[in-house]
Amino acid sequence: MTIDVATKEFYDSFWPKFVPIYEETKKYMLETIAERHVGRALDAGCGHGICSVVLSELADEVTAVDISTDSLATARQQAKAFGRANITHHHQDLQTLDPAISGFDLVWCWGVAMMAPDPIKVMHNLMNATKPGGVVYLGLYLKTWLSPVHEAVRHFCRTFMNGPRRKQLVCDFFTALTHVACRLKGQEINRRADNVSIQAQVEDWYYPPYKTFYSIEEIVELFHRNGFEAECIQDRLGRMKSATIFVVRAVKHGG
Ligand SMILES: C[S@@+](CC[C@H](N)C(=O)[O-])C[C@H]1O[C@@H](n2cnc3c(N)ncnc32)[C@H](O)[C@@H]1O
Repeated sequence: MTIDVATKEFYDSFWPKFVPIYEETKKYMLETIAERHVGRALDAGCGHGICSVVLSELADEVTAVDISTDSLATARQQAKAFGRANITHHHQDLQTLDPAISGFDLVWCWGVAMMAPDPIKVMHNLMNATKPGGVVYLGLYLKTWLSPVHEAVRHFCRTFMNGPRRKQLVCDFFTALTHVACRLKGQEINRRADNVSIQAQVEDWYYPPYKTFYSIEEIVELFHRNGFEAECIQDRLGRMKSATIFVVRAVKHGG
């Protein structure tokens, strides 16, 4: 099995520490997912595993995969803590997903594919893993005029500010900037439901090894070319107060 080591290491150190609040995740997923009962579901890039727990209430069986072994350990603990016996966890890179992991009625992939060096490969593997008649929910970063600015800052941070002290400086700088901007606008700081510190949000934003931004049209078009009926169901409204993710729902023809 080939694994993208940089992404694995980033998520090993970051993601298992922050488990979102189950009730908030469930509310968001039930508002997003139209299906109320399916046979087999795939949680593609399960992270902390809270989404897998919610999926396990809608599906007979859930397959949860992630590149990060530490995230998978947290995901296994969550499944146990919630008493869910119908979830199996697999260490997989979605770019080289084992073809035996397939035949899903529902595929959930939120905030994952665009973090791979080859996101299109991930999306093709997700489409192949979906049964005819099955449905994919895909959440990706939206391309805007700010995306190149974001990418320049991320490259600068990863190249020149990557030691522990420098990273701390970057995180403290953006935290102070956020406080000042919010005070000037008279707004509350936009804290995520998993209640991470602003510093951790900055790290999650500027330090992942890879990020790609997409337009809604190109993703809808990609699904159409590959035998799916697709539509954008959320445009930057979202979970974790993220103003940057859009979600496409795509149903595979046939079935
Ligand atoms: C931002 S988290 C999202 C977690 C979860 N999907 C959620 O919505 O809460 C991204 C997750 O994707 C995983 N990931 C990133 N690239 C991956 C890849 N190529 N294959 C499998 N998992 C990957 C990371 O390890 C991390 O756990």
